[in-house]
Amino acid sequence: MKKIKVFAPATVANVCCGFDVLGFAVDAPSDEVILTLRSQPGLIIKEIKGDGGRLPLDPTRNTAGFAIQSYLNHLKSFQGVEIELIKKLPLGSGMGSSAASAVAALVAINYLLDEPLTRKELVPHAMEAERMACGSAHADNVAPGLLGGFVLIRTYEPLDIIRVPSPQELYCTLIHPHLELKTADSRRVLRETIRLKDAVTQNGNIAALMIGLAQHDYSLIGRSLCDVIAEPIRSVFIPGFEEIKRKVNDTGALGFGISGSGPTVFALSKERLTAEKVGDITVQHFSELNLPSDVYVSTINQEGARLAE
Ligand code: HSE
Repeated sequence: MKKIKVFAPATVANVCCGFDVLGFAVDAPSDEVILTLRSQPGLIIKEIKGDGGRLPLDPTRNTAGFAIQSYLNHLKSFQGVEIELIKKLPLGSGMGSSAASAVAALVAINYLLDEPLTRKELVPHAMEAERMACGSAHADNVAPGLLGGFVLIRTYEPLDIIRVPSPQELYCTLIHPHLELKTADSRRVLRETIRLKDAVTQNGNIAALMIGLAQHDYSLIGRSLCDVIAEPIRSVFIPGFEEIKRKVNDTGALGFGISGSGPTVFALSKERLTAEKVGDITVQHFSELNLPSDVYVSTINQEGARLAE
């Protein structure tokens, strides 16, 4: 019996100025998938733990099952697979929960079938799972989940994915207020068109962020972490967002924003101590609004999803 366990990391999509084109992976938290090859064809989701019974066991409606089916179709394979999911990432949180299931499942099946595809070649199958889950095949969670580090999607057609070098000393704080936002809903509120002025600001920031990361220029990273497109609209769903942002900026963190489609917020800091301070301040802020929250402080994950030893 061939069986494997894979961990897939939480991911922060957009990173302020890179709506749909930039994301990074963190070392913790992560989701787990256990995959077993079956002698009969067909996909079965045997069990899902940690989701409170909310995720579908139907493999055609679950991102893990959907991604594996897309992968097997591509290989023209009728391999049967049994899937177990252990969800640690909260659902609808903006931490790339749906992406993590797809990513872990793809890395696991590819390993069990002796790696016919590269990590990069797995990306389109994970994107199809995202399309099924929220109506949009964005890659800014799945690509960093598969490749690790910061990943830029230069174009979607054709898919051109670039791993962006980043400094070793960089800490991410993720604060998840106990609210749930469906990605499809927080995409629906965005405008179809943007002002030229905003496009100019956003372009300048994303380009500068790439240089800041590659050259380890922390000041430039900090100056570039702003979003004039999605944040002004989506931040209304996060209680006291502007006030938290002011408080976080006062800690000396490099920057602060919404993780993916929210409601999780994130900050990047040069020192772990600052990253922890950001967590304390933000948790305190939410608690004053009677909103419980969880905080995770992590280094940047450089390898993407990994096999259990
Ligand atoms: N770029 C996507 C969005 C990420 O902001 O809608 C969703 O996690």
